[in-house]
This record gives sequence, structure tokens and C-alpha cells, in this order.
Amino acid sequence: MAFEPAFLDELRQRVPLYSLIGRQNKLVRSGRNWKICCPFHGEKTPSFYIYEDHFHCYGCGVHGDAISFIMQSEGLNFREAVERLANEVGLDIPQEDPRYEEKARQTASLVEIMELVQAYYRHNLFERQGRAARDYLNKRGVSEATVTRFGLGWSGDGRSLIEALKPEGVTAEQLTQLGLLRHDEHGNRRGELFFNRLMFPIHDRKGRLISFGGRIIGEGQPKYVNGPETLLFSKKRVLFNLNRAAEAVRKGDKLVVVEGYMDVIALDQAGFGGAVAPLGTAMGEDQLALLWRHDRAPIICLDGDAAGQRAALRTCELALPLIKPEQTLCFCRLGEGDDPDSLVQREGRSAFAHLLENAQPLAEELFTLITAGKVHLGPEERASIRHKLIELSQQIPDKVLASEYRKTLLDLFFAHFRGENRNFRSSNARANHVKSASRSITQGSSERLKILTALLLSYPEILPQIEQAYCQLSLPDTLSQFRSLFLEWASQAEELNAVSCQNWMIEHGQEKAMSQLLSVYVPRQHQTSEEKEDLLSIGVAETWWHFYGLVNFSKFEKEVQQAVTEAILNAYSTNSGGSNAENSFPPTVLARMRALEALKRGEVPALDEDQ
Ligand code: UTP
Ligand code: MN
Repeated sequence: MAFEPAFLDELRQRVPLYSLIGRQNKLVRSGRNWKICCPFHGEKTPSFYIYEDHFHCYGCGVHGDAISFIMQSEGLNFREAVERLANEVGLDIPQEDPRYEEKARQTASLVEIMELVQAYYRHNLFERQGRAARDYLNKRGVSEATVTRFGLGWSGDGRSLIEALKPEGVTAEQLTQLGLLRHDEHGNRRGELFFNRLMFPIHDRKGRLISFGGRIIGEGQPKYVNGPETLLFSKKRVLFNLNRAAEAVRKGDKLVVVEGYMDVIALDQAGFGGAVAPLGTAMGEDQLALLWRHDRAPIICLDGDAAGQRAALRTCELALPLIKPEQTLCFCRLGEGDDPDSLVQREGRSAFAHLLENAQPLAEELFTLITAGKVHLGPEERASIRHKLIELSQQIPDKVLASEYRKTLLDLFFAHFRGENRNFRSSNARANHVKSASRSITQGSSERLKILTALLLSYPEILPQIEQAYCQLSLPDTLSQFRSLFLEWASQAEELNAVSCQNWMIEHGQEKAMSQLLSVYVPRQHQTSEEKEDLLSIGVAETWWHFYGLVNFSKFEKEVQQAVTEAILNAYSTNSGGSNAENSFPPTVLARMRALEALKRGEVPALDEDQ
């Protein structure tokens, strides 16, 4: 016997998973969730994560909820596990609930009625009354074979459904239950929901007919009317065409999410059988879960307008807490004003195939959306973008994946704001670009880049003065990794100091790399804290700039000139007399000016005064 879903839901709710598992296992906090050493395979470090409603072991892959945990840990069958849990929390088990059986029968008969309704709509389409709808489909390039495949129909004038189905024994009550008859607030019947509309049948993933969407012919409002929530239909748990798309995906098609019914239909006709669409709402969690049953990386294909961008960002944010190494998303974007239907009608199958081939992974889509094409930004805006990127990657529950995301996003960030990466197109071009930028660093400057990093590890206090330049440096892989970690530390540290910074690096597995770096540059020992203050206020930053200037002198020279000009203009505008601009140079500019002068005199930066 099957248990009623509502009963199972309640049971799962009454038994918090962490308390059930925590009885025999020591729980360790992991963000909002818990983890333990997996009870189902031997391991020394915990990779068994306990979420609110399910568990997952990233080591051996076991996965389930409270009921399957009991089944697996105690070797019980489903029924026995349910009984055990129900007993424990004092829930009565609905014994062979006749109401449930009744409900199952009722559902089956409602689906049969829906099929009668569909047959009626189809019939109408090929009658005289369906003429305008047929012409319309024709005009939009929908073939007769496609009309048949999707079971399209014509609603009729909205006054004949009851009569038409009476001989089949269908009652008005049943049509009401199915949402096909409307009522006012007093319960009086107000006629049929659909009239003068082109009808699109909607199936669940098992192929049962559960609702309809209806489009007006030509212009008019509302363009589409969709069936309401019923016993059969809950729009948040359905994707248009998923039953057929799943079949196509099994045969090798890509699963693609588009915005509209007509897009799905046009794509199918063009040979892309894997298209589905939500039903006029933004995609929700349940729909993502449905997608992932059929494809590990479905492609979300959104319109190129601002609404499409917003929807893409929303979908990314929805997906992050749910992605795993084996379930993610890709994205592709249409041109402004296009939808998949208009694209294949105008440019044919290959145009859409090309779009799919260039779909970008979630991380890159996210980056593109967050930066939205910005290249020249001030430090505050860049910092806020970086915060956002780090924050977003922290949404991912799988720690390893989260750290890979953080790395990828920050790599993209540095590549982008280094300003070298203007033609931000295909993901491959981008990845290669990051690599070649690193490779182009000359051998001589690699030592200097190490010193720049080592200086920061010893005197992280200077970060605010040099941050912008540091972020834009083209660094080899190891140093770039250091930079990501360093900036991440700085973004959350209470105080910028060497002890906290170096501890962080050690905690993040950088002890050896760090001591190698620090052997390149041995910081001075300070006698007093005042001496350190002095050194910090000018000396260290100046040394940093000195080395920075050695990496690329002409770039540095230009930057200093620019900073000086800005400082002078600032001084004039804030100090209307403009008396003595030089006194107003901020220390960060002064440090750079001195470094530049020293470089011009051919001085070598002072590194080893104490050695
Ligand atoms: P679109 O306006 O993009 O429609 O809405 P479409 O599918 O491209 O249709 P054509 O090409 O204009 O004929 C996308 C989806 O949003 C829902 C429908 O599910 C539609 O397919 N929608 C749109 C509604 O539910 N109601 C509306 O009034 C409009
Ligand atoms: Mn359209």
C-alpha cells in the first residue's frame, strides 16, 4: 500500500534529520548545516552533509531523507522505516486509507476528462470555427504535423463545453474542479475559462494531461490565459513539454529552458526536441529539481532584454545553494528583441545550434551579470563587486565546489579589471586569456612580483594604499592564488596586520609557499611601535611602489602622472585659493612620486637595510 504523500511529509517534518542522525554520530557544524564522518563508508574527515530535508555524502554518494536514513542504517524496508519513525513521534499510520484510494481514482478520472476536453478542442480547430486559428498557426510557420504532435486546439466560443461533454457523462462540477469553468465570489457560474483561444495542452512529466494554456489570436490582452491550480496541476511543479523533452534528452538532445510555449514548439519543429518552458512565472526550485533529473547541466536560454538579465540573475541565485559537482546550469543569451521562435524562423536551425554551443557555465554567467560589462570602476565599486562574488560562492553548500567557484570568480575579476580583457566573449577565449597574461610575464619581473607579494604579507597595513594597482597586476598562477586568498582575508579581517594575515595563509594550506616567499624578502625588525608606524606611513608603501615601478616603468610613470594631476585638481577644487597644492598631496600620491623619482635616479629599492 502506498502512504499518502501528506502523511509522509508530516512525518519527515516531525523528525528533524540532524537530530535523528545526531543520536549515534557526533555532529560538526558546517555553516547552516551539519556534517559527520559518513556512517556508510569508512572515512576520517567528514564528507557526509546533513541539510534540512536530506543528507548527502560527497565521499560515497549516499543520499536520502529521514526515512531512507533509517532504511539504510537499520536495514528496514520502506514500510518498516515509516512505522518506526511514526511510532517514535506518535503519529498514527493511516491504515489502508480509503480516502487516499478514492483520491487516486478521482485523479485518474480527472485526467480522462481532460483528455475528452482536449479531443473537443482539437476537433474545433479543424472545424469551420477553427479557421482563423489555423490561418494564424500557418502564418507563424507551425506545420500541421507540429499541431498534431503538440495536440493544439481551438477553445470555441466559450458556451459549448458542458453540452459537448454531457454525452460522455462529464458534469459541470468536474469541469469546475478542473478549473475550466469560472465562478464569481458567490459561487455562481460565470462561463468557461477559455473562449476564442488557441489551446496548448500541458502535461506532467509522466505525460498526463493536467492543464491548458490559451493564446489569443493576434494582438490582445491577456495574451495567454493559463489554467488555475487544481488537484492535477500546480504550475510551480510543471515545465511545459518536459515529458517529451525528457525523451529527446535520453536520445542525446540538450535540455533547454526557454520562456514561452511558442518557443518550445518552434524549437521542436526545428529539430530541438529538448526544449521546455516554465508557465509564465520565474523558475522555481521544484522546476530546477525536475530539470536535473534529466540533464546535469541544462541550458537556460533567456531573452536579451533587461527582463531576461534579471531573470538570469534570479535563476543563478536560486541555483547556487542547490548546485553540486554533478548538477549545475549553463546559460545562453539571445539578441535584443529576439526569442528562440523568432530566431529559428528568421535564421534557421543552425543559428540556435550555434547559440547552444556557446552557452556559458554558471560561474561565468554570474560574473558577467554581476559586472554587467563594467571595466572602469573606482575602488569602492570594485570592492563591492568582489564582496558580492565571494558572498555568492559561499552560497554553495559543497565546500570544494564553493572554493572552486570563489577561485574562478576572482580569476575572472582580476582578468577583467586588469583592463586587458575588453573582448569578453567566449568562455574559452577568456580562460586562455587569463593564462596567456600570466605567461607573458618576463622572468626578471617574476622576482619583483614575489617581492610585492612578500611585502604585503609582512605589512598588510599598506593594502588600502596600493590595492587598486595590486588587483590589476598580471600575476603568475601561484601568486595570483595568493592574491585571491590575501584579498579574501582582507575583506573579512578585523584589522590588517601581519599575524592575522599569515595565520590565515597557514590555515589555508599556504605555510610552505609563504615561507618561500618571505625568504625572498626579510622584513626589518622594528625597535618600537612608533618606528613601525613611521615605516608604515611612508617607507613600506614607497618600497612597494618602487618594485611595482620596476615591473613596468612606463605604465607606472603614467599612473603617477595621472594621480598627481588628479590630486592637484582636487586640491584646487576643495581649497579655492589653491595656495600650495603640493602640501595637499595625499600620502599615497607622495609615496608614488618619491618612488618614481628614485627610479628615475636609478636607485635600487632598499630591501636589506638590516641585513
Ligand atoms: P511571451 O510573451 O514571450 O510569449 O511569454 P511567447 O510564448 O513568445 O508567445 P508568442 O510568440 O508571443 O505567441 C512567455 C510565456 O509567458 C507566459 C506564457 O507561458 C508564455 O508562453 N505568459 C505570457 C502568460 O502566462 N500570460 C501572458 O499574458 C503572457
Ligand atoms: Mn514569442
